[in-house]
Amino acid sequence: MIFSNLIRNSVIGVGLASLVVGAPASSAASSSASSASSSVASDSASGSSSQSDSAYTVPNELTLGVAQVPNIYNESAVDANVAAKGYSLVNVTTIPRGLTGILELKEATNIYGYDFEHLNLTVTYQSDTRLNIHIEPTNLTDVFILPEKLVIKPKVEGDTESFNFDDSDLVFEYSEKDFSFEVIRSSTGEVLFSTAGNPLVFSNQFIQFNTSLPKGHAITGLGESIHGSLNEPGTVKTLYANDVGDPIDGNIYGVHPVYYDQRYNSNTTHGVYWRTSAIQEVVIGEESLTWRALSGVIDLYFFSGPDPKDVIRQYVKEIGLPAFQPYWALGYHQCRWGYREIEDLVDVVDNFKKFNIPLETIWSDIDYMDSYKDFTNDPHRYPTDKYQDFLDELHNNSQHYVPIFDAAIYVPNPNNATDNDYEPFHAGNESDVFLKNPDGSLYIGAVWPGFTAFPDFLANNTQDYWNQMFKDWHDRIPFDGIWSDMNEVSSFCVGSCGSGRYFENPAQPPFLVGGEVTQYPTGFNVSNSTEWKSISSSIAATASTSKSSPTSSSSSSIDSMNTLAPGKGNINYPPYAINHAQGEHDLATHAVSPNATHQDGTLEYDIHNLYGFLQEKAIHEALLEIFPNKRPFIIARSTFAGAGAYMGHWGGDNNADYDMMYFSIPQAFSMGLSGIPFFGVDVCGFNGNSDAELCSRWMQLGSFFPFYRNHNVLGAISQEPYVWSSVADATRTSMAIRYLLLPYYYTLLHESHVTGLPILRSFAWQFPYEKQYKGVDNQFFVGDALLVTPVLQPGVKKVNGTFPGANVTEVYYDWYTHEKQNFTDGKNETLAAPIGHIPLHIRGGNILPLQEPGYTVAESRQNPFGLIVALDNEGKAEGKLYLDDGESLEIEESLYVNFVASKNELIASPFGDYNASQPLANVTILGVEHKPKQVQFDGSKVKFSYENSTIFVTNLETKTPSGAFANQFTISW
Ligand SMILES: *[C@@H]1O[C@H](CO)[C@@H](O)[C@H](O)[C@H]1NC(C)=O
Ligand SMILES: *[C@@H]1O[C@H](CO)[C@@H](O)[C@H](O)[C@H]1NC(C)=O
Ligand SMILES: *[C@@H]1O[C@H](CO)[C@@H](O)[C@H](O)[C@H]1NC(C)=O
Repeated sequence: MIFSNLIRNSVIGVGLASLVVGAPASSAASSSASSASSSVASDSASGSSSQSDSAYTVPNELTLGVAQVPNIYNESAVDANVAAKGYSLVNVTTIPRGLTGILELKEATNIYGYDFEHLNLTVTYQSDTRLNIHIEPTNLTDVFILPEKLVIKPKVEGDTESFNFDDSDLVFEYSEKDFSFEVIRSSTGEVLFSTAGNPLVFSNQFIQFNTSLPKGHAITGLGESIHGSLNEPGTVKTLYANDVGDPIDGNIYGVHPVYYDQRYNSNTTHGVYWRTSAIQEVVIGEESLTWRALSGVIDLYFFSGPDPKDVIRQYVKEIGLPAFQPYWALGYHQCRWGYREIEDLVDVVDNFKKFNIPLETIWSDIDYMDSYKDFTNDPHRYPTDKYQDFLDELHNNSQHYVPIFDAAIYVPNPNNATDNDYEPFHAGNESDVFLKNPDGSLYIGAVWPGFTAFPDFLANNTQDYWNQMFKDWHDRIPFDGIWSDMNEVSSFCVGSCGSGRYFENPAQPPFLVGGEVTQYPTGFNVSNSTEWKSISSSIAATASTSKSSPTSSSSSSIDSMNTLAPGKGNINYPPYAINHAQGEHDLATHAVSPNATHQDGTLEYDIHNLYGFLQEKAIHEALLEIFPNKRPFIIARSTFAGAGAYMGHWGGDNNADYDMMYFSIPQAFSMGLSGIPFFGVDVCGFNGNSDAELCSRWMQLGSFFPFYRNHNVLGAISQEPYVWSSVADATRTSMAIRYLLLPYYYTLLHESHVTGLPILRSFAWQFPYEKQYKGVDNQFFVGDALLVTPVLQPGVKKVNGTFPGANVTEVYYDWYTHEKQNFTDGKNETLAAPIGHIPLHIRGGNILPLQEPGYTVAESRQNPFGLIVALDNEGKAEGKLYLDDGESLEIEESLYVNFVASKNELIASPFGDYNASQPLANVTILGVEHKPKQVQFDGSKVKFSYENSTIFVTNLETKTPSGAFANQFTISW
């Protein structure tokens, strides 16, 4: 499904900022219509934030960038593939692992930058499956080379001095006179990558190469964006980290410069990773892919696969294997913007308990902060003593707390003694840890609290400063993890707008924070018109002076700004204008500007895409100081290749609508192939109002995502799952399944951590060369064993789904009835899906480890285990279980269990020294054609029942008194 015609202009270019309601301290702060926030109005006047005294607002004109015409929309723009003359290759010599040579510019065309005369080409066969092509100017003055200490560089494997080229899956070929190169798969002879016919362009601000692609290609990757899973012809991927509310096809928070090319004619897949932090744009054509970068060098890595899962493993291993999340991360998370005071959190936690809906972790958006300043809590709405009491109670119940953390640090007003008493700024300023202007003065942008500085993660003292700040904060407010937001890095104004203005602090954001949320999901008035009536009155009570952020730009003409310049070039207005999803397209709009300067002289221009990644590494280290040897829990917004080694990710500011619910699936696939398997989106939708039907469907879909969190914007109606009884029912149903499956999910988490494989899997990965399943992204597998077919439309009671291999090689069982399904491979099957029911199937051949659900993960882990054995056509199945203490970083004791079933016998073989003392309670065996005469556990008869081709063995507890998997066991039937 492609929704590219649904681009919302109201969202593009506006960012999170404009979608906000409720001035920080104005008495018109919006009520979220939540029972939990009923006390909002009475308390808002004493909101305590120092901002309430300030009338100063960051002037609107400071937010306006220069209007620029994106190159891809500029009809008179020069096509570098046509105009450039390219290079010729000379002086080629072989080196132990490849070859090197010099590229000589044939004729300067200086299209979007000054061409380099000489380039050094070095090709390295790094392993049998990995080839590196590196091209850099011979004169590296002013050329940014991405340091290995910032982003890992894949290394040569084995003996560095010799290599048997015949063993390589990949072969590099080139032509010298009109330089071009090809990468060929040796086993099939197919050309995987070819620049033939298109010149290499390499200038100080524009690097471009082009490869031909087969017609009907299946290109995935090049995230992060809101798009279907396939990058079909016409797709343009802009890779520039951006704080914007999930516009379809626009550049959003993260940058993953890698694509996968899955070939259905040869049944092979390969991957191509450009290790660059540069600003990039990738244009995908019918039979071509053109890749552009605005600085740096070419450092390309080819991964030969040959299956998609091989490519994922090969790529993710080189960028950094995913962090192992703590077990509790798999529990349910509840968040919203608008839990205005600590009592709201208390109420929400109580309500979950009252409605018997499991709650593992309660989150805070920026509500808890004192005037939106990092490392603070509001003394009136979130007083420290009550806050601490709340966290004590929460922790006593084995529940967790995660607060938001914003990237920027408030710059206090030196003329205001109270305001000036903000240690996090002074400590940082004294240690010299903030980004600078080119003249050495402090770079001061604007974020929620007013004018702000930005930590420089290349500066010498930043990590020590960071560790101290987080430790002091945690000493006061003992949080369990961090939610890192705004780290693209976002700034609401253009340039160092606060230089000379910070003495106006505290300053309000340059847009109205306040208003009403009126949007409802598609189909709302069809299915929920009565609900609207009851809600509309509470909405009407809210201040309604919402105005949208300015998208019109200054009238200055632009293209005169985009001029060539030598050296680093024109970094604020590069000659090539990307299609930046901010109104004016100016790189500095809603972000720290390209000329902000790091301590070692590195320009933000070259590493803007790394800001979030470097910040997350620093938070990871700070959390390790607080929780030695515990796995840090971080959910973050801006990501880069390798970020998954430090954090999990949520999909950002989506909308409460059906399109966004659908897009969560391809976004999960894209994050999975980018090494970020721990992913989920704001369930029930962030911007706009949700409704019972959407929220019911989404709570059920979300329960199968690795990260499961409901989150909501300020001012929207409440959407905790207990708000509607139908949603509460639907949620309890699917949460019971998720919690039952916790051992399965934890085993998948561990597998992703050691192999790089995603947890949610597309049909195209599971059944790689079945062409009819190419691009399916409205259904997915969880691991290999479960197939989820969610409802993604309003007003329906049925859903269509396909079942790869059904009745040919595969068997599918209905999760709920255990019935073997009579599906046909390739056929659209229609499944009943009334509200409250999410179709879920078990793929035969798999064994699922289970544990009786408890209210929390800790409780669940005290309950007995179970197994589901789903036999395939040949009566076989297999599965795995991994267990440990669920939180240690260095794992001393772990348990691995292999399950194998065949010939009417299941054998469970444990190894490892972690002791799970809970017994095995039951085993359910699906696909047994005839009722067996008896069932035996280790040779002795046990009770069982048989129904629907299913054997139910129960009450096994006494057979495994020292723990379900303390010993090997056999069950036969
Ligand atoms: C190629 O090698 C020759 C001989 O060593 C040398 O004179 C020439 O400068 C080299 N060409 C380039 C472009 O480096
Ligand atoms: C080109 O780069 C390779 C690898 O860094 C190096 O060994 C070689 O000396 C370089 N060649 C020239 C002419 O600079
Ligand atoms: C390298 O480039 C810089 C900047 O363009 C120039 O000043 C310098 O002379 C060049 N060095 C060589 C060896 O050509």
